[in-house]
Amino acid sequence: MNRSLQSQLQCDMIRCRERTLSLFQGLDYQTFSAQAHPEFSPVGWHLGHIAYIWDYWILGKWAGLALTTPNYEQLFAVDGLAKADRVKLPQLDDVFAYFNLIGDRLLAYLESSSLFAEEEKIWRWLIQHESQHAETIAIILQIQDQLPQAFQTQIAALTRSPQDELSLITIPAGYFMQGNDDLNAMDNESSAHRVYVDTFRIASHPVSQVQYQNFINLGGYRQEKWWTKAGWQWVQSQQVTKPLYWQIFGDDPHSPVCGINWYEAEAYSRFIGMRLPTESEWEKAATYAGDRLALKGKVWEWTSTLFHPYPNFLPFPYTGYSSLYFDDQHYVLKGGSWASSEYTWRSPFRNWYQPHVRQIFAGLRCVEI
Ligand code: AVJ
Ligand code: FE
Repeated sequence: MNRSLQSQLQCDMIRCRERTLSLFQGLDYQTFSAQAHPEFSPVGWHLGHIAYIWDYWILGKWAGLALTTPNYEQLFAVDGLAKADRVKLPQLDDVFAYFNLIGDRLLAYLESSSLFAEEEKIWRWLIQHESQHAETIAIILQIQDQLPQAFQTQIAALTRSPQDELSLITIPAGYFMQGNDDLNAMDNESSAHRVYVDTFRIASHPVSQVQYQNFINLGGYRQEKWWTKAGWQWVQSQQVTKPLYWQIFGDDPHSPVCGINWYEAEAYSRFIGMRLPTESEWEKAATYAGDRLALKGKVWEWTSTLFHPYPNFLPFPYTGYSSLYFDDQHYVLKGGSWASSEYTWRSPFRNWYQPHVRQIFAGLRCVEI
């Protein structure tokens, strides 16, 4: 038995779960169970789903136990109910009790487990799965204007960071290793493979509010020439005039623009005569010049790359985790936002969303043409 691995997983899991629970401070049942937006399930559903997935993979698959609460299976499994039907949730206290009960049972099981590498991999996956759902919960609470003060503080911390001068950083041509085969890798990060990237120059910072303000002021949202065909249709049908989370970081003009979709990111880059980075460019830049790129804890960054599998892709832990989204409808986002957890922070990590989604905490960084 590997005691230090055991206590590390224990510690990571406890911290991850406390962070998740901190999002629910003082929440009422109405907010807990409401569908704030058609793209998203209620926050209460996410909490139950997180617990159910731990129960299913660790207690069910590894410990060989029966599901803790079988009558929650249909409600909290990802293929159980349509998003709109996930509003009929048990009472707050019942879902919290479920979440906590599974936590206790997991800790008890961890004490007795031999933790083979294969099992460590699923624990690491589950911590990251929960972290990603916690960010989704933060997004939904933001839309509902119910994000707790403790989380707001993280936003404030960001604007206090000193502003370095904006510059372009040259990344010389050559090969680099893209992807990640470590134990913590999600299936879509593997296999790591050699990729050649030509010389390019990338902005040292994500696009700021003051920069984006120029696009708004000069009529960017009203001029077809900056938009892709689908993007122009989207702006017109939605009557969009500014980012969804305009000034979420306060009125500091140098804070990054947040709450834009892929269409807006693409249009802005064209407007200033630049372009979005490819995923390979972004990852190579982060690998070799990460310390000069003001990457961490700001916003997810859209890339021009569609979400596709790497060579020798193998689904883990289930077929649909990534494979369902290799459909030419999702773009890769890199980095992480102020609401992301440390467990998913690494340059090979891949997030993905459809181009019309602007609820996520995303901005962009440009590359010279
Ligand atoms: C990678 C954040 C788009 O939330 O839909 C969680 C992650 N997959 N449970 C999502 C995920 C299954 C996924 N994202
Ligand atoms: Fe999930």
